[in-house]
Amino acid sequence: MTIKKRKTCELDIIDLAYGGKGLAKPDGFPVFVDRCVPGDTVLVKITKKKKSWAEGKLINIITPSSLRQEGRCRYCLYCGGCKWQQIPYHTQLAYKKQHVAQSLAHIGRLSKVPVLDVIPSDHVYAYRNKMEFSCSAKRWLMPEELADETISKDLGIGLHVPGTFDQVIDILQCEIMPDLGNRILAHVREFVKTSGLPAYHLRHHTGFWRFVMLRHSVAYDQWMVNIVTRDKNLSIVTTLAHELAETFPEITAIVNNITDAKSGVSMGKEELLLHGRDVITERLGRFAFEISANSFFQTNTRACEKLYDIVAQYSGLTGEQTVLDLYSGTGTIPIWLSDRAAQVTGIEIIDAAVADARKNARLNQIENCRFLQGDIRQVLPKLEQKPDVVVIDPPRVGMHKDVVAQVTALRPDTIVYVSCNPATLARDLELLSSVYAVQKVQPVDMFPHTYHIESVALLTAR
Ligand SMILES: C[S@@+](CC[C@H](N)C(=O)[O-])C[C@H]1O[C@@H](n2cnc3c(N)ncnc32)[C@H](O)[C@@H]1O
Repeated sequence: MTIKKRKTCELDIIDLAYGGKGLAKPDGFPVFVDRCVPGDTVLVKITKKKKSWAEGKLINIITPSSLRQEGRCRYCLYCGGCKWQQIPYHTQLAYKKQHVAQSLAHIGRLSKVPVLDVIPSDHVYAYRNKMEFSCSAKRWLMPEELADETISKDLGIGLHVPGTFDQVIDILQCEIMPDLGNRILAHVREFVKTSGLPAYHLRHHTGFWRFVMLRHSVAYDQWMVNIVTRDKNLSIVTTLAHELAETFPEITAIVNNITDAKSGVSMGKEELLLHGRDVITERLGRFAFEISANSFFQTNTRACEKLYDIVAQYSGLTGEQTVLDLYSGTGTIPIWLSDRAAQVTGIEIIDAAVADARKNARLNQIENCRFLQGDIRQVLPKLEQKPDVVVIDPPRVGMHKDVVAQVTALRPDTIVYVSCNPATLARDLELLSSVYAVQKVQPVDMFPHTYHIESVALLTAR
């Protein structure tokens, strides 16, 4: 079969690629198609054609795969959030394990490293403790809404449609956050509609309402609402905050972040406290954490505990060792390990995260954790003590190669590498494997219905 741009063709989907797309291989030539399930026969329009692969857009499913199931969410065929809802959860886990193993083998040339079965998330719906919904002056209409001329298109509060940067699906029911979040969102939507102030226009950079961010504390069933606006208008946001606080006693924190930045970030240049406190308290195991609107915190609380349990187990701590935690964020890993180590040092680049980490250590009366602020490349060479164990949890891009060299020069007995990206995990493990034996990799699922997968690797000095 000849694959040509803009041509349509019938394809058999045989696999799922990392990134979540279905993979067909007509005459051995890889074609990636979004929102397909292995076993589907589909009609596809080729949208991109390169020398060794192509990409296509699904036109329609000719014969559905026997694997297919109904997604619970009514938007799941259009929304960019959880595209794997059509695949049973245990099959999602099998593909995630396969992706980790394939990355290790193909990118890291580490095909012999055992990859364990994925530890599942206990909850596959209502698992996210944070959702950020965009307010847009351009609402995207669902197919069944297209013929309804009474629907106004000038307000959508929800999630983006992939491939459009300014259009938002008006999400009435998001299945991956606890249901009260949907009721809070509905209240905000009604208020915004009658507020007399327009939603933000992502092309023109005009309008008032920008984002509604919700955070939930699983341990205490507390909610935080962060209303992000372009300008300051204390009277209108205070009225909204009063209404929300009166209607939902579970809301213990309401803040207003204000930002006119053109990039789509919800972090305000200024934050106003409107109700209660500016943080919510969450627990991981026996530790408490105060989380502010802009703090980083793992988004699946219970799965995060499972992840950190593996980190603790792989660290092999007996109470005597010194631990270095690279990319320590708000200090959750150092705090989790604090009662099994002599001392834990975290290094993190973001000031606010380091301040949160120190505050959280104090909150838990922990005295053997310290946090150093700065770029790891600059801070590591100044470290005065050789650690016994190094934990590494970098962002998606993985480690800088200088940092890999700095870590191997420190020669810790054990390295525990936590990764949210199998490709950079494989690349970095290959670099480390000249000096360290990669014993095993344990994937942990924090993000059901997406292709994303977290992994923990155990490395020991050769
Ligand atoms: C994946 S997060 C890890 C967060 C934390 N371990 C947790 O579980 O919550 C990666 C962190 O690395 C930090 N970071 C990124 N580049 C850095 C650098 N060059 N030096 C220090 N920290 C960095 C980011 O700010 C972020 O907090």
